[in-house]
Amino acid sequence: MSSTSSTSLTARVLDARSRPDPYPLYEEIRAAEPVWVPDRPVVVLASHEACEAVLRDPRASNDRRHALLHRPPEGGPAAGPAELPSFLFMDPPRHGALRRLAAPGFTPRAVRRLAPMIRELIDDLLDEAAARGDLDGVADLASPLPVTVICRVLGVDTGERDWYRTRSSMLGRAVDPYLAFLGVPAPGLAERRRAERELDDFFRRLADERRRAPRDDMMSRLLAAEIDGAPLTEEEIVTTCRLLLNAGHETTVGLIANGLLTLLDHPGTLAALRDDPAATAPAVVEELLRLQPPLQIVHRHAREDMEVRGIRVPRGTTMVLLLAGANRDPGAFGCPHRFDAARDDASRHLSFGLGAHYCLGAPLGRLEAELAFVRFAQRVVGPRLVDAPPRYRPHVVLRGPESLPMRTEAILGRATPWRSGSP
Ligand code: HEM
Repeated sequence: MSSTSSTSLTARVLDARSRPDPYPLYEEIRAAEPVWVPDRPVVVLASHEACEAVLRDPRASNDRRHALLHRPPEGGPAAGPAELPSFLFMDPPRHGALRRLAAPGFTPRAVRRLAPMIRELIDDLLDEAAARGDLDGVADLASPLPVTVICRVLGVDTGERDWYRTRSSMLGRAVDPYLAFLGVPAPGLAERRRAERELDDFFRRLADERRRAPRDDMMSRLLAAEIDGAPLTEEEIVTTCRLLLNAGHETTVGLIANGLLTLLDHPGTLAALRDDPAATAPAVVEELLRLQPPLQIVHRHAREDMEVRGIRVPRGTTMVLLLAGANRDPGAFGCPHRFDAARDDASRHLSFGLGAHYCLGAPLGRLEAELAFVRFAQRVVGPRLVDAPPRYRPHVVLRGPESLPMRTEAILGRATPWRSGSP
């Protein structure tokens, strides 16, 4: 492939006009795989086979220090992000040690105990919309729910949820592949650095409070934890809390918002969610994860020379994995562009990643989405989108609509029974 055409393919990934429907572009990239970014140590992969192989390969690191891309130019400032890395951006053994400390809060069992609290929250949010008489699927449901849930899990004050939400949304742009494709940071670097400092200061203050008066929450557990007989550093505690807040928030917003948008086009599925949630909801969520991945792209860096499905990848190369392209690879899924909750292989999607960094919060993300979709189907009668198609946020990786204003025939009260077998 000529370098001009690969430049235009990667430029189109970043282009805001691609957000409403990036999938034809991901197909072009898959057809041309591997797509090398001219003059940069970067390759883009979009097939299910190649993305899966990289995610499972221990030579494919998540530590940016292995990327030539993140090395400072001779004598110049670092090109990469300045923030301290959380365990998402670490390799073994430190990655596993920190992940194991956070993990008990996110097992399927621990998460099931959160279900009553999540149901209450969803009903509160729908009550607020009903009292006002209008409903925006993003502002009223998808956006406030995950931040409130993760704040409760972390043991932080939910009264300030808008404060966390705006900062975590700003940080979301840090993962957009500007550095890989253009050699410059994603837009909004100064605001992101400020947001990050503010969040880190916040978690430092919280650490001080919990040191003085521990509670039954994640922060107190991290403060009491040890790895090989030594306590965690304050940096590790702060970056772990920041990771959990960000990773647990923006992705789930995207799953619920993109999911509602798809479901509005499938009233039969909404009816099935309403009438038989136990039989329907898990498969619907899995298929929505496959079709509209909330996190569309991840990066890996070659710690050593490697070969991926016959593609030679020199040490230091950054591999940009289009998970959203892999999920619609016809080599992996039949009729990949069709929403089909009855397909039996949706769970082969890569939307939660794979391997060592497989999403720690997958059970929580799935549960929040199941409950949100089921309750939406039960309480919101005759929903129709006001602005179709909706406007999208500029985020490339954390793709999703900015708002979803709806017209409805009614929003039923919270006395509407949750059917038995509801998640
Ligand atoms: C439903 C929406 C979600 C999606 C689509 C999603 C997606 C992902 C993906 C793709 C990764 C792997 C990133 C990589 O390999 O580079 C990941 C990692 C992670 N996710 Fe999620 N996530 C979701 C919800 C959550 C929730 C609710 C939490 C709760 C805290 C969470 C916490 C994490 C953490 C801590 C990691 C890092 C794991 C590691 O490095 O070992 N996620 N997520």
